[in-house]
Amino acid sequence: MRTRVLKLDPNLPDDSVLRQAVEVILRGGLVAFPTETVYGLGANALNGEACARIFDAKGRPHDNPLIVHLADPSDYTKYAECANTALFEEIARRFMPGPITVILPKKKEIPDEVTVGLQTVALRCPSHKIAHRLIELAGVPIAAPSANLSGKPSPTTAEHVIEDMDGRIDLILDGGESAVGVESTVISLKGDSIHLLRPGFVTAEDLFTITPKVMIDPAVLSQLEKGVKPESPGMKYRHYAPSALLTMVCGSEEKVISFFREKLQCGCGILCFEEDIPHLKGFGDPARVIAFGKRADLSSQAHLLFAALRRFDKMNLEHIYARHTAENDLGLAISNRLLRACAFDILELEREP
Ligand code: TXA
Ligand code: MG
Repeated sequence: MRTRVLKLDPNLPDDSVLRQAVEVILRGGLVAFPTETVYGLGANALNGEACARIFDAKGRPHDNPLIVHLADPSDYTKYAECANTALFEEIARRFMPGPITVILPKKKEIPDEVTVGLQTVALRCPSHKIAHRLIELAGVPIAAPSANLSGKPSPTTAEHVIEDMDGRIDLILDGGESAVGVESTVISLKGDSIHLLRPGFVTAEDLFTITPKVMIDPAVLSQLEKGVKPESPGMKYRHYAPSALLTMVCGSEEKVISFFREKLQCGCGILCFEEDIPHLKGFGDPARVIAFGKRADLSSQAHLLFAALRRFDKMNLEHIYARHTAENDLGLAISNRLLRACAFDILELEREP
């Protein structure tokens, strides 16, 4: 299959270009498109056969359900039931359109291929102008996982999508870089409480402003025991994984920098903060040092993390050592992705006495 790439202005997308994508979606094809979080790989969510093609194109395990993207949060009543509409509507009023996904009991309109047979469906209204207008013009909801090969870091540029999907899908809409850089926050509603299944740009702290009853799923920061089924199937996979071994390094500033210097001299890769770069000069090939943002700027870390992991993939390294980041606010999402990328391999250089 030949994959076409069409460029669009992310701030003022041209409807005539978007209509070419709509045509592909409505005939059951696959279109990758930018969202504010990462690029998605979309199909008509009401067409089971088209959604099944997403799994083939990505090599996605058949027990991992897809998110359904809507143009407007009020459309949720067509596809899902909600026992606590007041809570859903407050979440929608505060955070939608935007980087949050809510899991609700599904209606029969959503085919089993989307939800892999679960009785629930994940719904999200992206705020990105290209994604929003695409869904609006299509007139159908669009099922879309991240547009990477399964197990690879999520794509934050059209170039990343081309690397993984060229020849496997019909069309890629190139709208430049995704602003956020990590996937949406995934929550489910349990009575009057919110269960946080995957952290993202809408943080636990943001959710606490709606209700004190926010539960953070244990799978967010810890490894699941064998045989335990997470509520969100995606949490059990070694995700976002670079091809090299990855280890997260914790410890005092001095110890981490001297450890990085030693490993850099041995030919390893270093995934660090921008502030670390001057301290690593002269200790090995600077091309093997990649910064993912500034230490105190969590947005820049989220924005750059997946692109950094992809750059390492091209280097054929055996081992990469990464900085550990804060776990508050957006740091919870960054730590969650890094922990999955390193399969919970954490090196503690020193313990507090
Ligand atoms: O930001 C995002 O969410 C991006 C963009 C494209 O919207 N999409 C994305 O999709 O990250 P994906 O498929 O890579 O991740 C979806 C996550 C998976 O962990 C999946 O298991 C979970 O959402 N999920 C989907 N439907 C679910 C359901 N009914 N119940 C529980 N978890 C669900
Ligand atoms: Mg994904």
